[in-house]
Amino acid sequence: MNAFSEVSEANPRHVAIIMDGNGRWASQRGLHRSAGHKQGVEALRATVRAAGARGIQYLTVYSFSTENWTRPKAEVSFLMELFRRFIHQDVAELHASGVRVRMIGNRSNIDAATVRMIEESERLTKNNTGLQLVVAFNYGSRQEIVIAAQRLLEKLKRGELQSTAISEDDFSGSLDTHGIPDPDLLIRTGGEKRISNFLLWQCAYTEFVFAPEYWPEFSAEVLDRCISEFNGRERRYGGLASQSA
Ligand code: FPP
Repeated sequence: MNAFSEVSEANPRHVAIIMDGNGRWASQRGLHRSAGHKQGVEALRATVRAAGARGIQYLTVYSFSTENWTRPKAEVSFLMELFRRFIHQDVAELHASGVRVRMIGNRSNIDAATVRMIEESERLTKNNTGLQLVVAFNYGSRQEIVIAAQRLLEKLKRGELQSTAISEDDFSGSLDTHGIPDPDLLIRTGGEKRISNFLLWQCAYTEFVFAPEYWPEFSAEVLDRCISEFNGRERRYGGLASQSA
């Protein structure tokens, strides 16, 4: 039995990742930050393959936050171009391997050509039944929650909903992540221990694992270690520990 098969029974259905540390990885090697982001795409490709091989059903990755616009203009342009190149170069292959691609985040201030690429990749892969790769792009959880409230208000105005009847399911169903189960495991690489406006509603009962590796160093082995740590946790959802029941 290898290390993976020992932990495979309770594997998380949905893993979310804050891919942090690209810049530090590059600086440590005397490279420009952009080299870290490029290597980050390689780590993402390997992680998608590893996640699929481990039967993970949903993989959500934080690729660009609503706060990332405050970075130097050249870095923002580089990240935008990297994202477009990822769609251009990888979506056909992801499609061929049965991956469904979905993007969450605000599209209203993204250029029309990029939005078309996003829509096309979602359309192309929408019937795939393999891993669902959810890319958070121009994503901020507070903004997502505000927009969900606005969507519910519109429904109220149209008389499609009674205010007293608004439920948690109505709210979840108005988020960009509608139809996607909440993450079981959130991994943050790069050693920082914060959530950075990522999936605030969705992570109510998610287990957090913090990996010291910078994102470009992430690998199938690190993923397995994080899954092992997850599998060793007891999820209580606010209830009692099983031994004290
Ligand atoms: C955080 O590292 C990483 C980002 C802001 C971008 C994440 C992007 C990728 C991994 C590659 C692009 C992804 C796609 C889908 C094409 P950082 O720059 O904040 O690192 P630092 O904390 O060391 O400075």
